Amino acid sequence: MRKLMLVVGARPNFMKVGPLIRAIEKDYKKIFRPILVHTGQHYDPEMSDAFFRDLQIPKPDYNLDVGSATHGVQTARIMERFEPICEKESPACIVVFGDVNSTLACALVGAKNHLKVAHVEAGLRSFDRAMPEEINRVVTDVLSDFLFATDTVAVDNLKREGIEDDRIFRVGDIMVDALFWGKEKASRSGILERLNLATRSYAVATLHRAGNVDDRDVLTHLIGIILRISRRLPVVFPVHPRTEARLKEFQLLDTLTGKENNDVHLIKPVGYIDFLKLIMDSRFVLTDSGGLQKETTLLGVDCLTVRETTEWPLTVSQGTNVLLGKTPEPETVVNLVDRMLSGEGKKDYTLPELWDGRTSERILNVLRERLA
Ligand code: UD1
Ligand code: UDP
Repeated sequence: MRKLMLVVGARPNFMKVGPLIRAIEKDYKKIFRPILVHTGQHYDPEMSDAFFRDLQIPKPDYNLDVGSATHGVQTARIMERFEPICEKESPACIVVFGDVNSTLACALVGAKNHLKVAHVEAGLRSFDRAMPEEINRVVTDVLSDFLFATDTVAVDNLKREGIEDDRIFRVGDIMVDALFWGKEKASRSGILERLNLATRSYAVATLHRAGNVDDRDVLTHLIGIILRISRRLPVVFPVHPRTEARLKEFQLLDTLTGKENNDVHLIKPVGYIDFLKLIMDSRFVLTDSGGLQKETTLLGVDCLTVRETTEWPLTVSQGTNVLLGKTPEPETVVNLVDRMLSGEGKKDYTLPELWDGRTSERILNVLRERLA
């Protein structure tokens, strides 16, 4: 029995580990024993527990309880607490997901302790090193033994950086596995009734990128855009804790909740299944999230991304995503929205190859072969 140490820490990790654990349980139970480590980078019930519940992820074997801190302190704390667990468990492989600080910290501990490291969602690049995630991606890829790439763009990025072919495996996107699994459950969610909204009568907005929300001018501009959109249709805005803190600090909450603006539904972050329902029944999504750019393409929902760059270029070239820049002209956005509302949104889209819901099994097949 080979021990696979699966590391999660932040919201976008949870929907990636869920399918892998289910696949092990279904077909690889005699080969792999999963050991689940939660770093505790995200800890609010709606940023963590909700996903364990919705995605039916078992209780972690270890919780490092690191909480929030600066990049240096958080990364160091994770490393300090993760290392003894590696020593104790001697896993055959450490599997890290995505691009958050937990990903980088645990890859670094694994590599330094001569343990095999697998990176799920390898090769993504926004080519913007001002994003902390970009640094996490580049370093995690350099350190990992198994680079599980989602698409051909990611493979090309890795090759250009000189990574050997035999470390790169194009397996598709594990978030697709999660979405296919959750879609049917989402269709039964009662979130629209709870928010008193009719199907396809509203838009969804999410913002949390540090580069957007920590900058008073950028956040003020983006809130202005959300308010403009809300004059056309209600906007559901589940607020990430980082964003909530900044909205308070920059005194923008009143602007959003004022009586004249009551078509912005400011809510706490919602769990995975309710959130899928919210986006699949929306007219469009405005976001700076990475994962949401893919989910909207998968669901055929228009997506307006308020960022300068994207690590998911295929969602723009093949999917339903439009990259607007982080401070687009409100007029431009409203015109786009009007076009979408009159049915002229981006309609034709194709999914990248291997985005078929079978990524977990491809990953496990590679690990079964290589971790002899
Ligand atoms: C992190 C990831 C980002 C990812 C995002 C997903 C890094 C560098 N960033 O950003 O890539 O897109 O998660 O959501 O790893 N907070 C709470 N409760 C929580 C979690 C956070 O209140 O459960 C607040 C704290 O004030 C904290 C702030 O949010 O300081 C930011 O949290 P942190 O994990 O550092 O970064 P995110 O912005 O969540
Ligand atoms: N998500 C969610 N509830 C929310 C907001 C997002 O379930 O209120 C999900 C979303 O569907 C996607 C993931 O969280 O699967 C994306 O996480 P996030 O935007 O925090 O991080 P990123 O993908 O930008 O790193």
